[in-house]
Amino acid sequence: MHGIVLDGVFAQDPYPLYARLRREAPVTQATTATGTPVWLVTRYEDARTALADPRLAKDAHRLRAMLEARGNPRTLDESLMAHMLNSDPPDHTRLRRLVGKAFTARRVEALRPSIERISASLLDRIDPTSEVDLISAYAFPLPITVICALLGIPDADHDSFRSWSNTIVTNSETEEFQIASAGLVNYLTEQIERKRREPGDDMFSALVTARDDGDQLSEEELLAMVFLLLVAGHETTVNLVANGVWSLLRHPDQMARLRGDLGLLPNAVEEFLRFESPVNVATFRFTSEPVRIGDVEIPEGEIVMVSLGSGNRDGDRFPDPDQLDIDRGLGGHLAFGHGIHYCLGAPLARLEAEIAFRDLLTRFDRIELVDEELEWRNSQLMRGLVQLPLRLTPAV
Ligand code: HEM
Repeated sequence: MHGIVLDGVFAQDPYPLYARLRREAPVTQATTATGTPVWLVTRYEDARTALADPRLAKDAHRLRAMLEARGNPRTLDESLMAHMLNSDPPDHTRLRRLVGKAFTARRVEALRPSIERISASLLDRIDPTSEVDLISAYAFPLPITVICALLGIPDADHDSFRSWSNTIVTNSETEEFQIASAGLVNYLTEQIERKRREPGDDMFSALVTARDDGDQLSEEELLAMVFLLLVAGHETTVNLVANGVWSLLRHPDQMARLRGDLGLLPNAVEEFLRFESPVNVATFRFTSEPVRIGDVEIPEGEIVMVSLGSGNRDGDRFPDPDQLDIDRGLGGHLAFGHGIHYCLGAPLARLEAEIAFRDLLTRFDRIELVDEELEWRNSQLMRGLVQLPLRLTPAV
């Protein structure tokens, strides 16, 4: 199939195109909104196989060289690129092991009271007598404040940390982005010194002091890791919360069912992840040698977009895939990826989402859309609403 452009129109509703591609051209050439030629993989089984294939690589330096050769250079600060999501084994294995020592299940569970406090204080500030944009009032500030808690960023620095991070997450490759990333790098460099001198109980200190058989993270790797936590853990979680609320609003029977039994929350969160996957259009790889996916041979040095959002709507894997059904069994979806790069923050994202949906549904008896026509961000990666204006009726 020719002439597929992943543009702003596609971003408003990608699902009809995904369905057609899965049927007619499950591995196809396409062009991104910025004009980069890519291969797009849309079926569940192909996506899962591709994500586990070591010939589909991630190494940032090789990818950058390839993009530059095609006249499409990236301007991201080099020092922030050396993180595990941009590396292949053996570098990836080493980084993931060191970071895994700091990002433990115990550390995530220990954040529960902080997340509950952060969620409650954001909801306390909402004025239910007027319309509320759930994204700016709640879904956006929640995960970044949680990341501050995870990293032990002192309260006094939250505002500047949040502002750098907001700029980085929302404006890629602009001058503001460069200024914010330089500000963040300076700040984090000072914090690394401080955490080295007086380690706290936070994950940043654990990363600074993590050791594995005499190995440790270099300063550049530490900076890149914290940067990765910001970019990987922020907008994704914003979209999980907002897309989940939007999905429930579109399926009132499911909203009623969940309100009636909050024990279904873990299932519901998995179904939100499947139904409106935050990392939706695709996650990127490139071919380090020719690779056959399905019936198509992709040459070496090509960019491959593995569509998680499409795989998660594949009727061969999920019966009645366009129906939100919070009673579906847990798991199996690709929203957190698959294989060696499987999301390291998945337990944290699940915990945040469960707290967020529980709080929203117990605080507000009615949640209603102000406007049926909402705008989706034009992103090659994420699926997220620009705004989610709601009318909220507090529980009495
Ligand atoms: C990797 C999704 C939240 C940290 C990934 C990948 C996906 C993903 C799809 C794999 C990308 C690939 O294979 O190319 C999500 C979603 C989230 C979420 C949908 C929320 C709903 C978080 C949070 C954190 C986090 C809260 C940490 C604070 C990471 C890290 C990696 C990763 C460090 C890289 C792992 C590796 O390269 O080995 N995430 N993520 N994520 N995620 Fe998440």
